[in-house]
Amino acid sequence: MLLEVKNLRTEFKLKRGTVRAVDDVSFTIDKGEILAIVGESGSGKSVTSLSLMGLIQKPGGVAGGEILFKSQDLTKLSQKELQEIRGNKISMIFQEPMTSLNPVWRIKDQIMENIMTHMKMSKKEALARTVEMLDTVGIPSPAERANDYPHQMSGGMRQRVMTAMALSCEPDLLIADEPTTALDVTIQAQILELLYQMREKFNMAVLLITHDLGVVYEAADRVIVMYCGKIVEEADVKTLFEHPQHPYTVGLLQSIPQIDNESDEHLFMIKGMVPNPLHMPPGCSFSDRCDRCMERCTKEMPELQEINGHKVRCFLYDKAEEGELSAK
Ligand SMILES: Nc1ncnc2c1ncn2[C@@H]1O[C@H](COP(=O)(O)OP(=O)(O)OP(=O)(O)O)[C@@H](O)[C@H]1O
Ligand code: SF4
Ligand SMILES: [Mg+2]
Repeated sequence: MLLEVKNLRTEFKLKRGTVRAVDDVSFTIDKGEILAIVGESGSGKSVTSLSLMGLIQKPGGVAGGEILFKSQDLTKLSQKELQEIRGNKISMIFQEPMTSLNPVWRIKDQIMENIMTHMKMSKKEALARTVEMLDTVGIPSPAERANDYPHQMSGGMRQRVMTAMALSCEPDLLIADEPTTALDVTIQAQILELLYQMREKFNMAVLLITHDLGVVYEAADRVIVMYCGKIVEEADVKTLFEHPQHPYTVGLLQSIPQIDNESDEHLFMIKGMVPNPLHMPPGCSFSDRCDRCMERCTKEMPELQEINGHKVRCFLYDKAEEGELSAK
């Protein structure tokens, strides 16, 4: 097992109350596996990934749980020890590229610095690798563009620079938070292809966070669905798309635009809005939006239960003796 997250809790202590952004989240990632996390805005995807990297800023912090990377608990490491791991064994493509690019450094210097720190290469070798990586992520005239500062590039180009930087040290785990959102479809396909190649070549694992369920279907092996800081469903990609169990997952899948759908049927939208994290409904977090809500749902929070590797948090399902999740 490459990564094992156990009962992770990340909270933001605000004056108005405590936001439980990640609430008792557990999952694993194997070597070479692509695990996707999906869920609407505010469900805790980015906070989960930033927690793994030890990058949650005050007033937030990891309030409990373990993050075992190659059996070492990252929550127990100092910032210096974490820095050794970040950008080397684990790298991250951030949702906002400017978070990880230094505006006053040329992009080649940023990528070279990362390579020289972690890969023991000479300056000349590091420069050659930098240009090669920029070329790989589809930056035209990479030797010249390497001299640019981040502000001289478009959002899509910066995203590619960050991808080049994240992949330059051949990490064991890549955390990619919306890695293709700012990109057009062709470049998006190239970046996904690149992730596949890295997986084939180096057995790199990927934690893929995206709003784009089409990308998830194409790229992921397994999928976690998050809602209000909790995992509500987890399954391999085929099972999740073909046999979704949780009403929230069903709603998400019905919201995907179908390119071949020529009828003018309106796209399904999940009714209502994600609740304010400081005013969560009692019971199931999805109860105020769920068409199948029962009285019990407004009083108790369902547990995440697992049968044959498919996990779901909903009172509609019970552990069936015959080994399948079944509606009551
Ligand atoms: N710095 C912060 N201070 C207070 N609350 C925060 C902070 N960062 C995140 N949160 C809260 O944590 C929750 C989870 O946020 P997160 O950014 O992980 O969502 P997300 O799933 O990545 O959404 P998106 O799809 O919009 O990127 C939200 O309720 C958010 O308001
Ligand atoms: S527990 Fe109840 S409210 Fe929650 S998703 Fe299941 S049916 Fe809907
Ligand atoms: Mg996010």
